[in-house]
Amino acid sequence: MKIQDVRSEFTTSRPGDYPSDALPEIAFLGRSNVGKSSLINSLLNRKRLARTSKAPGRTRAIHWYRVEGSGQRCHFVDLPGYGYARVPRRVREHEWAALIETYLRSKQPMAVAIQLLDIRREGPTTLDEQMIEWLRANERPTTYVLTKADKLSRSRRARAAQLFARKLQLPDGMRPIPYSTVTGEGRAELWSVLDSHIAKGSPGYGERLAGRGGVDEDHR
Ligand code: GTP
Ligand code: MG
Repeated sequence: MKIQDVRSEFTTSRPGDYPSDALPEIAFLGRSNVGKSSLINSLLNRKRLARTSKAPGRTRAIHWYRVEGSGQRCHFVDLPGYGYARVPRRVREHEWAALIETYLRSKQPMAVAIQLLDIRREGPTTLDEQMIEWLRANERPTTYVLTKADKLSRSRRARAAQLFARKLQLPDGMRPIPYSTVTGEGRAELWSVLDSHIAKGSPGYGERLAGRGGVDEDHR
């Protein structure tokens, strides 16, 4: 997508209170501090659109960003991170979990879930696994992104991608995308995945493909 307009559109901390304009949604999921808000800023070429923080637990509501370009529109959905130990258990297990869960179970038109995993961990954590199992059981298309790739050398990055592919039991030929918001590694690759999901989630997809012979490949 050639991005033409990005807007912070809607924030809710109340489960079930969502925008209703039916744009395809790209949902960003992962542990607290894994880099969801940073990934959104990097994909959208904005420095401070989504609030990021060194301390985990920054995003405590669901934020929707409206993204427009190349004749397409979609929402990026920044969800609160799970698994942050310093939040009182009651809040963590009820309020935040309710926010994430109610969103996931809603009828919002999720085009693809982006599951983020820290490349330095040697595989998904138990909470990641629970999330991934849920996505699979509910047949949600999912793309896996390994964040903070700049923290590992090139050879360790490649090994980590293989290790995660095995632990996530991805089908042959499918691998998680190493991403760095510092170097931009992975950005073009992830955009091409997003573009195809956004196109599929938009009305008239079949006709456009027939007319043009392909999905837009311009990822800037
Ligand atoms: P919550 O909102 O608490 O769930 O966190 P989050 O997943 O949105 O994480 P956030 O984007 O706030 O990033 C957490 C920290 O990781 C920040 O200090 C970021 O600067 C850092 N970070 C994110 N992505 C990268 C990356 O690719 N490379 C490096 N070196 N640091 C990163
Ligand atoms: Mg955040």
